[in-house]
Amino acid sequence: MGGKVTVVGAGFYGSTTALRLAEYDVFDTVVLTDIVEGKPEGLALDMNQSRSIEGFETKIIGVTTTAEGAGYEATANSDVVVITAGLPRKPGMSRMDLIGVNAGIVRGVAENIAKHSPKAVIIVVSNPLDEMTSLAQIATGFPKNRVMGQAGMLDTARFTNFVAEKLAVKVGAVKTLTLGSHGDTMVPVPSRCTVNGKALSELLSQTEIDELVDRTRNGGAEVVALLKTGSAYYAPSAAAARMAKAVIEDSGAVMPVCAWVDGEYGISGVYLGVEAEIGRNGVKKVVESALTQTEVAALKAAAEAVRAKQADVQTL
Ligand code: LAC
Repeated sequence: MGGKVTVVGAGFYGSTTALRLAEYDVFDTVVLTDIVEGKPEGLALDMNQSRSIEGFETKIIGVTTTAEGAGYEATANSDVVVITAGLPRKPGMSRMDLIGVNAGIVRGVAENIAKHSPKAVIIVVSNPLDEMTSLAQIATGFPKNRVMGQAGMLDTARFTNFVAEKLAVKVGAVKTLTLGSHGDTMVPVPSRCTVNGKALSELLSQTEIDELVDRTRNGGAEVVALLKTGSAYYAPSAAAARMAKAVIEDSGAVMPVCAWVDGEYGISGVYLGVEAEIGRNGVKKVVESALTQTEVAALKAAAEAVRAKQADVQTL
């Protein structure tokens, strides 16, 4: 296959993403960066030593970077860049509480990345997700299709897991969908949820569905509260890595992602969680599907909430 992917940030989210990408064995190189001196180099050394056991040839390169841009030469001409840089939540915090501090970090990273990898597709995972995705697009100046955020894959996977556990069925039997923001205005879409092809509403009561929807909306906070330091990374990294793989393989897979919406569902001019076809240039197209009136109304409410905050980040 070939190609180069950079993962910015060697915390749990970034390092797990880097390892998943390497284990796919589709890229030539995975570059892992961090501002903590030696950490990315150490993790890369360790990961490379697992190659003969796990049977992958992808080489992982760890590089310490600085906010001023030192070290970014190693990321040059990446095909895909996953930005995980920034602080995670502490218990009790909302993702939005991170906006001020993470905006500065994500802006700096995005500028440095754009300088060295002008043709890359950027996948943002830093929180608050929808706002940081918008900011990365502004800071890179890249076409909007080449900047997207990871949230819908994760939220959908959480929803799927909760439904599978509730009904004691295989996760493979369950299809769910979440759209909207990666936050309070997340829009789980029960009308698109099926179990072995059967509508979820035939299998669970409205109250039971509402409980699963609520748990999905609070899925990140539930993990943060248990961990006490840091936030989730196994499911988040799986989601981000799959998006990067879809890009390099030009797969055309339809995934729920944070993408620039331009007219779909009657919404325009905002980064929002929608389904999109993913390929070599990022978002090939946003896929609009049949939603109930209530779901469309919720999606529009999410768009307005996110729009207000995305306007704020321009000055952060
Ligand atoms: C979560 C964080 C990563 O949802 O946003 O777990």
